[in-house]
Amino acid sequence: GKGNYRHFMEKELHEHPVVLGDTLQQYLEPSTRSVTLPALPFDAARVPRLTISACGSAFLAGMVGRYWIEQVARIPVDADVASELRYRDPPLPEGGAAILISQSGETADNLAAMKMLRERGQKILSIVNVPESSMARESDATVLTVAGPEISVASTKAITAQLAVLACLAIGLGRARGTLSAAAEAELTAELLEVPAKAAAVLERDSEIRAMAAEVAKARDVLFLGRGPLFPIALEGALKLKEISYIHAEGYAAGEMKHGPIALIDKDVPVIALCPSGPLFEKTASNLQEAAARGGRVMAFTDEAGAGPLSRFAERVVTLPHAGTFAAPILHAIPVQLLAYHVAVLKGTDVDQPRNLAKSVTVE
Ligand code: M6R
Repeated sequence: GKGNYRHFMEKELHEHPVVLGDTLQQYLEPSTRSVTLPALPFDAARVPRLTISACGSAFLAGMVGRYWIEQVARIPVDADVASELRYRDPPLPEGGAAILISQSGETADNLAAMKMLRERGQKILSIVNVPESSMARESDATVLTVAGPEISVASTKAITAQLAVLACLAIGLGRARGTLSAAAEAELTAELLEVPAKAAAVLERDSEIRAMAAEVAKARDVLFLGRGPLFPIALEGALKLKEISYIHAEGYAAGEMKHGPIALIDKDVPVIALCPSGPLFEKTASNLQEAAARGGRVMAFTDEAGAGPLSRFAERVVTLPHAGTFAAPILHAIPVQLLAYHVAVLKGTDVDQPRNLAKSVTVE
């Protein structure tokens, strides 16, 4: 049941600290600050290319995974939505492998992509939440997310659990390839180990996020911006908002704004930014300043170090705990989901069962 919560989505959002802890615990060893993955169906040291396939929010987690695996393990990664990948006819290398991501493990397009990838000689590693699902059964190896049952059609904890697994996978692949030293592994692992407690701290920002939601609920269009591994989180914020509040929202790579969407900006358009401190901070912040200069209402999620500079021009700044550059996308996924939730509640939509949507899309 929902316990004391109004909706399953709210309950599942509040399970983030536990789910992230349970999932990371499977693959991280706190005493040695190292990663232990289950046996992979491909040679991590030699695999020439990885293809990530998923749908919806699981695909957005996969996009973050691409940034991580490329940066940490230096393996070329392609990531595409399964409905495109299955018909794209991509050239795939001998000895290549694919990573399929799905909460349900029953999504029709992704099962079809799996079949195509297998027929072309790719080994299949799946990241799924339902251990007895078709995808888990049919792949060469499975890494489980330990998110528990997810009832809300809008995915929350399953996505962050997928991010946690992908982060561990990137570290494990980096070690296997020799692109990541043991010391660097310990640093990244330490960031991840702090994520569950920091996720709990993010949930404590609830009233600030609800206040932001009251503004966003009045808008007709909303832009979400992020750069690097925060770009897919911007897409996640926009997808979640559309899905449950029916407000039109788009996610953009911050640097793409001036190539088109900046034309939309006026005083009625909230520009929601995912902008943690780190190497890309200044770049994103200057994009946001341009939006503010054109009357856009910048509302930013950042950390302590980012809050000062952003509050010079942003209408609202929500300060999250500093997660480190590697773990930041996991932590920033939570407030955009929470924001969408509060907007939907204010709009009075059917939060757990949005119109026209199914929890598991088992037809093409
Ligand atoms: O079960 P799956 O992870 O394969 O589902 C994929 C998408 O249908 C799913 O993530 C969808 O986009 C969610 N409703 C997003 O909140």
